Amino acid sequence: MVITKNKFEFVYSPLNYIGSKKKILDQILPLFPEKINIFVDLFAGGCNVGINSDAEKIYCNDNLSFLIEMYQHFQKTDTTEILQHIKNQINTFRLSLENEEGYKNLRNHYNILKNPLDLFVLIAFSFNHQIRFNNSHEFNNPFGRLRSSFNPQMKSNLINFIQNIKTKNIEFTNYNFENFEFNILNENDFVYCDPPYLITTGTYNDGKRGFTGWNEKQEYKLLNLLEKLHQSNIKFALSNVLEHKGKKNDILNDWLSKNDYLCIQFIKNHYANANYQTLVRDKDASKEVLITNYTPPQNKEKEILTLF
Ligand SMILES: C[S@@+](CC[C@H](N)C(=O)[O-])C[C@H]1O[C@@H](n2cnc3c(N)ncnc32)[C@H](O)[C@@H]1O
Repeated sequence: MVITKNKFEFVYSPLNYIGSKKKILDQILPLFPEKINIFVDLFAGGCNVGINSDAEKIYCNDNLSFLIEMYQHFQKTDTTEILQHIKNQINTFRLSLENEEGYKNLRNHYNILKNPLDLFVLIAFSFNHQIRFNNSHEFNNPFGRLRSSFNPQMKSNLINFIQNIKTKNIEFTNYNFENFEFNILNENDFVYCDPPYLITTGTYNDGKRGFTGWNEKQEYKLLNLLEKLHQSNIKFALSNVLEHKGKKNDILNDWLSKNDYLCIQFIKNHYANANYQTLVRDKDASKEVLITNYTPPQNKEKEILTLF
């Protein structure tokens, strides 16, 4: 079934994740295959895509182990217990929009005990609600003074998210992308990839998260992996940018010119199929694309896309 929900029907991640696909879910989801047995969100991050997919079994994978442990904890813990834990920690550490000392005390507490639920409380009060670890795997994001708290929107997203991960057939895995068990997949399955983008900056690119950074070597490995999936008749879709602020991703552009995949460009609130060589030249623009090895169902239905 093609997913054509309006934005009020999506399940949103309780995290404000860098590079999140939250804002373009309504454009991406209808481009996924109609019937999926196993859906793999290989670089799940905030899980915005995986949680909204329609499949018999969903894998949400990310190599940020503390993030995956937090999701696994959400899945196995009673919702009221989770909310009570958050409330207790807010009271114990006197967390507020202004109490930086309380935030730092909780951060020290988390870095010693690594309770996955405390990670969520920290994120709620951290700058921009971001996740950042140093090379010793200590959470080191600063306090979100006067801006970040466990606000009602975050609480409602959290409750809805937890309810969905408990009811859908989702498994959270913590593999480096190339080590995922692809041998369980066949032609009825689908792999969605939203990796760090080589030519943009995100905290997960620069190695500062204390985890593997994203570089040209990783980019080549991923493209080789996608070719292997294609040879095994497994469908894939890759989110990426071909150009960003005047920079080009030459590796990806070369790969596209050598292979016969579809490249769909997202333009503001709508999308059009783009011949990647003829994209409008605008040096500040970001050419955000979805590359697929199959014809998206939306194309069959509405003939929106023109194939090059
Ligand atoms: C662009 S974000 C994904 C955002 C997600 N689609 C969303 O909507 O929230 C990319 C993710 O890839 C993860 N990542 C980076 N390198 C990885 C690797 N080698 N293997 C698996 N995951 C990796 C990062 O931790 C980050 O969460």
